[in-house]
Amino acid sequence: MPTVGILGAGAMGAGIAQVAATAGWTVRLIDVDVETVAAAIQGVQARLDRAVGKGRMDTAAAAETLSRLQASTITDLGDCDLFIEAIVEDLDIKASAVAPAIDVLPADAIIATNTSSLSVGDLGARLDAGDRVCGMHFFNPAPIMKLVEVVRGRETRDDVVDRVAEIASSWGKQVARCADTPGFIVNRVARPYYLEAFRCLEDGLADAASIDAAMKTIGGFRMGPFELTDFIGHDVNTATTRTVWEQWDRPARLLPSHTQEQLAAEGNLGRKTGCGVYDWSGAEPMAVLRPPQEAATGVEALSDIAARLCLAATSNAEAAKKASSSQQIAFMRVLAAVLNEAAWAASDGVADPDDIDIAMRAGVNYPKGPFEWWRSIGEDLMGEVLAALRENVQADRFSRPPEAPGDASH
Ligand SMILES: NC(=O)c1ccc[n+]([C@@H]2O[C@H](COP(=O)([O-])OP(=O)(O)OC[C@H]3O[C@@H](n4cnc5c(N)ncnc54)[C@H](O)[C@@H]3O)[C@@H](O)[C@H]2O)c1
Repeated sequence: MPTVGILGAGAMGAGIAQVAATAGWTVRLIDVDVETVAAAIQGVQARLDRAVGKGRMDTAAAAETLSRLQASTITDLGDCDLFIEAIVEDLDIKASAVAPAIDVLPADAIIATNTSSLSVGDLGARLDAGDRVCGMHFFNPAPIMKLVEVVRGRETRDDVVDRVAEIASSWGKQVARCADTPGFIVNRVARPYYLEAFRCLEDGLADAASIDAAMKTIGGFRMGPFELTDFIGHDVNTATTRTVWEQWDRPARLLPSHTQEQLAAEGNLGRKTGCGVYDWSGAEPMAVLRPPQEAATGVEALSDIAARLCLAATSNAEAAKKASSSQQIAFMRVLAAVLNEAAWAASDGVADPDDIDIAMRAGVNYPKGPFEWWRSIGEDLMGEVLAALRENVQADRFSRPPEAPGDASH
């Protein structure tokens, strides 16, 4: 029976352990804190019990899954085909915690890291095992989120990347292959969804609830950018933005939002503190972050093209027509910024357009992949939209990459 060793039994390690055990793998779960392992196994048991209660799993399958989960130590790793580290996000700590495991693992075992923001290649080099170290980036909660980004470090062998992709697929995940670059795919391409929405608010274009409603009704996004950042937490969301922005040499497109960073600094982190962009203490969320008094400029110049873009991009023409002009412009700005960032990511060699599409659909539940969306809107209209935004909003935020997505996707 295939066996995986998982180091770190926190939120991610426990979730990955459940995924692997459900797929029939024996799991050796390890943590510096033995009680964390016990709690993780109990957590999996509770989730399996719920699945049985809802009729999604039978009792025998749940019991078998649980029996495959074993609280272990590093010395038990001698029979593992795969090892996944999911401990704290610190290169020094990861390197020194994984090194003893390498001494015990079979010489051909694959070593995967669930890091979100560190370089897979740097970890491989520190471990002197770069050829068999690969990124296997799950999303939280791992049993529910469908995506795994498979990240090739600078020395990772082809067969290792292929095998990790194959294992992730056999565990029921969708795989997006990507290069070892800051934010990988999702944490980079999703940034403008939040950032451009904050800029629309800062510009006085519309209030938070109207922008959220526009993204959901016109675009079919499950959550608007403000309710989503309130859900993620502004501390976590701004930290990721800042890391990705810094590591990509501070492009204007990814500049952190001052308003959002202020929310984080004030401790208004979103749902977990009861207040962020919205106040969550009542029956219905109430927007507390207000746009400035002065009305936004440039609305007239953008209304016509925004109406056209909304109709071309929506699968709900009724909602697109009913939206106010400000909502249509906000929708256009946010969607164009996301699609353009996807084009930049492909042009920077982060991943192929098809993998970017898979990642954004499966990793953050976008209703369409950015390139799929771009093609359905059409290159002519997208070109016109980006030119209008460069002229009327900000030139360098909507600058196009050297390679147009039409070229990159063919
Ligand atoms: N939480 C997320 O949303 C998310 C999503 C994708 C990837 N990640 C990445 O997954 C990794 C783990 O994140 P998490 O959210 O599960 O963290 P967590 O804090 O919930 O769990 C980390 C676990 O690692 C253990 N640990 C720390 N040092 C250790 C050591 N030296 N040896 C053994 N165990 C040790 C801790 O006791 C803890 O149980 C990080 O690299 C993170 O960036 C997190």
